[in-house]
Parts: sequence; structure tokens; C-alpha cells
Amino acid sequence: MEALDALNTRRSPSKFAEPAPDDAALQSILGAAMHAPDHGKLKPWRFIVLRGDARHRFGDVMAEAMKKREPDAPENMLGREREKPLRAPLIVVLSAAIQESHKIPVIEQMLAAGAAAQNIMVAAHAMGYGAAWKTGAPAYDDSVKTALGLTPQDAIIGFMYLGTPAVMPQAMAQPDPSTFIRNWPG
Ligand SMILES: Cc1cc2nc3c(=O)[nH]c(=O)nc-3n(C[C@H](O)[C@H](O)[C@H](O)COP(=O)(O)O)c2cc1C
Repeated sequence: MEALDALNTRRSPSKFAEPAPDDAALQSILGAAMHAPDHGKLKPWRFIVLRGDARHRFGDVMAEAMKKREPDAPENMLGREREKPLRAPLIVVLSAAIQESHKIPVIEQMLAAGAAAQNIMVAAHAMGYGAAWKTGAPAYDDSVKTALGLTPQDAIIGFMYLGTPAVMPQAMAQPDPSTFIRNWPG
């Protein structure tokens, strides 16, 4: 697929099916992430791969973390949280190993990892897979980070859901880019 086509046609599937990218396909997708712009060549991105049963175990972690955050959360809410990682056959947790006192500002380290996330989305799409970028409270929860072997200083940039698109969202007209543009000084 041409690069511009991939950029202009990428959407997040509303539902995923098997197959997920296999190890070789995932290698290509994460290879694209390595080409993200990266101030200071810090390569802040890290990838934790969750396949198969690991998603069930991660669902337990998500539900436990929700229970700690919201002790009164009803069982059905906890159940929904537990099921979330099962929405796609493969999840890549993309974190950034933040160096707080580095001359490259933290926000730029986060942006580089975010650019890696976008490369993952577009590369997956170009290869015929679907990807969805999710965060929510678990991304900012230290107990989730700890369970994944991360430290509280690490930033979870996204839970990258990957698989074969099963249901795509309705087509959405995108605004004309000129809406967002102005010339300076006018
Ligand atoms: C940093 C970041 C976090 C996101 N977190 C979520 C999320 O937790 N849940 C969700 O439904 N969408 C989330 N999204 C948005 C979706 O990934 C998706 O891009 C958006 O709904 C637009 O759909 P599209 O990708 O088909 O254009 C997030 C996007 C970004 C950039």
C-alpha cells in the first residue's frame, strides 16, 4: 500500500478477529516503530507483547487495579474491565522509559514514543491488519505498571490492540485541513 493511502484510509476497527500478526509480522510492525522521529536518539519506546492467555491474566490485573481505584465498583463493571484485553487477539503495551533529568524534555520523549505508536497503527493497516490505540485509567495506574514490570516513572503511551479487522466504524467525513490552518503573519 502506498504511504499516503495507508495514512488516509487507516481507521480503528470496532471489533477484531483472529488472526493477529504473527511474530514475523509483528517484527515488521515494530520495525516501523523504530523509524519514529526521536530527539536525542533516546529510543524511549518499549514493547510488552500479550498474546493468548496473557490477555486473561492482564484482564485480572486491570480488574484488580480498578477495584483499588474504585473500591465501590460493582461486579459487572469489574467484569467488563476484566474482559477488555480480550477485545483483540494481540496487545502491545507501548511504554516510554522516561529519563527525567535528561536534557531532552520529558514531553519530547513521550512524543517520540507516541510517534512510534502511530507508526505501529499505520504499519499494521498497510499490512492488512487493524490497530486501535487505547489508554484510559489503567495507563496511568502504578499497580498496572508494576504488574507489567514497569516502574512508576515509565509512561504507558498506549495499549495497542492488534488483529484482523472484523467490524469497521462508519465512514467519517474528515474536516478540510484548511479549517486548522492560518498563515502568519496573516
Ligand atoms: C493517546 C490516545 C489514547 C486513546 N485512548 C483511547 C481509549 O482509551 N479508548 C478509545 O476508545 N479510544 C482511544 N483513543 C482513540 C482511538 O484510538 C481512535 O483513534 C479514535 O477513536 C478515532 O478513530 P479512528 O482511529 O478510526 O480514526 C485514543 C487515542 C490516542 C491518540
